[in-house]
Amino acid sequence: MDTPDSQNDDTTSIRTQVEQSGQREHAVPMFLTSSFTFNDAEQARALFAQEEEGNIYSRFTNPNVEEFVEKMCALEEVEEGLATASGMAAVFTTFAALLEQGDEVLASRYLFGSTHKLLTQVFPKWGISHTYGDLEDLTEWEDLVTPDTKFVYVETPSNPTVDLIDLEWMGDFCDRHDLIYIVDNCFASPVLQKPARYGADIIIHSATKYIDGQGRGVGGVVVGKEEYLDPIQSFARHSGPALSPFNAWMFSKSLETLDVRMEKHSRNALDVAQHLQSRSDVKFVRYPFLESHPQYDLAKKQMQGGGGILSFAVEGGIERGARFLDALEMCSLTANLGDSRTIATHPASTTHSKLTEEERRAVGILPGLVRISVGLEAAEDIKADLDQALDRSAE
Ligand SMILES: Cc1ncc(COP(=O)(O)O)c(C=O)c1O
Repeated sequence: MDTPDSQNDDTTSIRTQVEQSGQREHAVPMFLTSSFTFNDAEQARALFAQEEEGNIYSRFTNPNVEEFVEKMCALEEVEEGLATASGMAAVFTTFAALLEQGDEVLASRYLFGSTHKLLTQVFPKWGISHTYGDLEDLTEWEDLVTPDTKFVYVETPSNPTVDLIDLEWMGDFCDRHDLIYIVDNCFASPVLQKPARYGADIIIHSATKYIDGQGRGVGGVVVGKEEYLDPIQSFARHSGPALSPFNAWMFSKSLETLDVRMEKHSRNALDVAQHLQSRSDVKFVRYPFLESHPQYDLAKKQMQGGGGILSFAVEGGIERGARFLDALEMCSLTANLGDSRTIATHPASTTHSKLTEEERRAVGILPGLVRISVGLEAAEDIKADLDQALDRSAE
């Protein structure tokens, strides 16, 4: 692998690449091969015995996947990584590799719906339990630790209410209680927030979101300290959640523009958030870099920008919210986020429909809440579409 001697995210994302082949190509080609040939029987033996480093089979390693993982490790400032077929495969593989029967996960209540489903319905089958911590007062988490607690698992900013967790406080907490500290950094991306600087041991991403950034492919990645990634990599080698070389190639190319994309996503989202806040028919707007966000100071401390996601509630409840979504002309109605195209989502009936009404209320997902993943179009056009939809939905 060619790696630049640079501490800068933009240079690292652009200049880390698989070594040039004899064809002298400038852009890295795709290695669409399921296996790799051996020079002779002795090399085959040595590779399998891990006495020699090299590719054997694309479920284990592949040059495109390695390049993507290497970039993600550099961006997150950690040692090791593994790419997976989806963000949920990254979550599942991490949990399944490190947890044992009797272990307990202490997690933020503000979790992505499928992660919540894993904790409440899948892992209990194998004797793994969980406790949820609330975010109003993190010191209450001190009482939630038991002798069986092994992990702390948090998302910040959370989906879809963009509530934050103080990464530094949580790092100290995990240190004091000797807990493995895991952060889903999907909403911020490594450009806006680096959890390892606050002691995170493992960082997870859905690459489907900002890492791809153009809504083309599903993938995930888990990176972190070698002592945790070694067992995760070994588990993955045999259980097979591998990322395809095609998607790895695409994600690695996308990382070349992550820095500039996140800057514009953040700029556009702040503009749109301020605009929505100025409308009298919008009840509230949640965006980390809005001064009205209760954790604005924390956002400024641990994030380089507010990111592209905001949520808001419109006066008139769920019926008006539905009319608003139906009235959008340019913005897309889809469940994804982190795309170059602006997306509007109704979390209660889609991404968080797996939670009960009571569970949704506990994490601020009101029936009329709308999530906007602000894209890279001109901010004027995004605001105009939201305005006309809000106006028409009032009629
Ligand atoms: C915060 C968060 N984590 C994990 C995931 C799961 O990722 P994927 O859909 O790539 O499996 C998502 C998907 O929306 C998410 O928003």
